[in-house]
Amino acid sequence: MLAELRGLDLYIDSTQILRSVSLKVDEGEIVCLLGRNGAGKSSIIKSIIGLYSAQSGRIMFKDKDITNLSPRKRVLLGLAYSPEDMRVFSELTVEENINLSTWITSETKRMKDFSIEKTFNVFPEIKKLLKRRGIYLSGGEKKMVSITRALALNPTLLLLDESFEGLAPIVVSRFRDALRRIKDLGITILLAESNVRIASQVAERSYIVERGEIVFEGAPDEILENKKLLKLIGR
Ligand SMILES: Nc1ncnc2c1ncn2[C@@H]1O[C@H](COP(=O)(O)OP(=O)(O)O)[C@@H](O)[C@H]1O
Ligand SMILES: [Mg+2]
Repeated sequence: MLAELRGLDLYIDSTQILRSVSLKVDEGEIVCLLGRNGAGKSSIIKSIIGLYSAQSGRIMFKDKDITNLSPRKRVLLGLAYSPEDMRVFSELTVEENINLSTWITSETKRMKDFSIEKTFNVFPEIKKLLKRRGIYLSGGEKKMVSITRALALNPTLLLLDESFEGLAPIVVSRFRDALRRIKDLGITILLAESNVRIASQVAERSYIVERGEIVFEGAPDEILENKKLLKLIGR
């Protein structure tokens, strides 16, 4: 097993956001977190990367307990994150945005045999945008930059928060192909996604999150065929 959450409880300002969340991600899988808006998907992802710290429970990654590590240390161990709002810097070029990653990881052992070229092949269209500043990118292009920047960290587990959100249908299929290419690079993916049809096209396994709790685990296709489960995710 590559990553595991064990009974994670998260409170923010005395409101309970996550309730005993347990889940597992195996090496090579694409796993999806499904659930309505406000269910807790992003909070789970932020807890894994270390932006939120859970009050109880444990987070394991590569057989290490990372519960109390800083986000930076988690990245050095092989985690990377593309946030829902992309965080692409407007004043920096695409190339500079992506190169930010190398500030963190250069000199580390993990980067020794890493070729950034493979990263650029996930979204080949990025190569034509390298000199463009963030402010002149479309939403879809920003998503590509954000994911490419995360890949430039040479991650083992890539955390994607709503990477398909707001994409035009034709771009959705490009992202689906990109996810397959990421998987072919040997990278495991945990994706927060609100659209179960997209989830069923990219993920082998999924969890439904509802009011901060995991209420279902199984194939996305099972959800598509089950009215009660569809209702849970607001479809
Ligand atoms: N930093 C925060 N401060 C206050 N409330 C938060 C914060 N982050 C998340 N929440 C609350 O936690 C719940 C789950 O949010 P979130 O994890 O973003 O859900 P999802 O990603 O499934 O839409 C929501 O009610 C949200 O308002
Ligand atoms: Mg979210």
